[in-house]
Amino acid sequence: MEVTDALLRRLDVASQAALEAAALLRSYRGSSLDSLDIEEKRPGDLVTVADRASEELILEMLKRHFPEDTILTEESGLQGATQGLYAWMIDPLDGTTNFAHGYPFAAVSIGLLQGREPVLGVVCDVFRGDLFRAAQGMGATRNHSPIRVSTTRELSRSLLVTGFAYDRRETLDNNYAEFCHFTHLTQGVRRGGSAALDLAYVATGQLDGYWERGLSPWDITAGIVLVREAGGKVTAYDGSPVDVYSGKLLASNGELHSAMQQELAQVRPLSVSFPMGART
Ligand code: IPD
Ligand code: CA
Ligand code: CA
Repeated sequence: MEVTDALLRRLDVASQAALEAAALLRSYRGSSLDSLDIEEKRPGDLVTVADRASEELILEMLKRHFPEDTILTEESGLQGATQGLYAWMIDPLDGTTNFAHGYPFAAVSIGLLQGREPVLGVVCDVFRGDLFRAAQGMGATRNHSPIRVSTTRELSRSLLVTGFAYDRRETLDNNYAEFCHFTHLTQGVRRGGSAALDLAYVATGQLDGYWERGLSPWDITAGIVLVREAGGKVTAYDGSPVDVYSGKLLASNGELHSAMQQELAQVRPLSVSFPMGART
């Protein structure tokens, strides 16, 4: 498929925005927790001055270059043109909990939808500075070198990754059972704390598969394009076409996809022995 000029222009601007936002985020390194002005939007769901500053930088750049596009960001909601041909899905800091604790695993994630189809993704690793890029039909790169998903064919040889949404205290559909299930079947399951970077590492082949529920479009739009363009597969849990607004995602190197799908279909919620909603 031909990559259009419109997509290439957007890829360039999104890459610049992600690099600048990541540099800005790095400038907060070593800041005291007080100066990060951490706010808890709901239990466990944090936002800091760094999230907001990164978002402002990205918004200014995208609005200046593409006033005709729609924009959805985590912290400011819907912006820009209504019903543009393209819609940006922006997470100015994916991995806020890690960032707030100084744990170095966080990213800037800028994805683009055409209609409801993810067509472009840029993810910048805040701490390593790696830039992951992909556009439909163009392939995927890390720091401009092509990346490819792994060739692992058996779950017993795989390393997977997942995450737990902020409503985990309020629902039995909290991914705990799935986490245990896959931990038994594989060489390990990681919980990175940044969905965008988790997907980027499936794209590089350093992780073999990813699943998660309770996601937002800004967490995953960019990562979906990275995995697909690196030769992987991304669907809903049951293998049906992915909808970035559905909150659920299964991504893999392709080889493991049907096995992961089958296992996910079998998992039953764990009966929890602590009161739902309880916090210490
Ligand atoms: C979160 C991270 C995390 C995932 C959560 C997301 P945030 O995003 O991507 O890995 O498990 O579901 O909400 O809040 O750090 O931008
Ligand atoms: Ca996020
Ligand atoms: Ca975020």
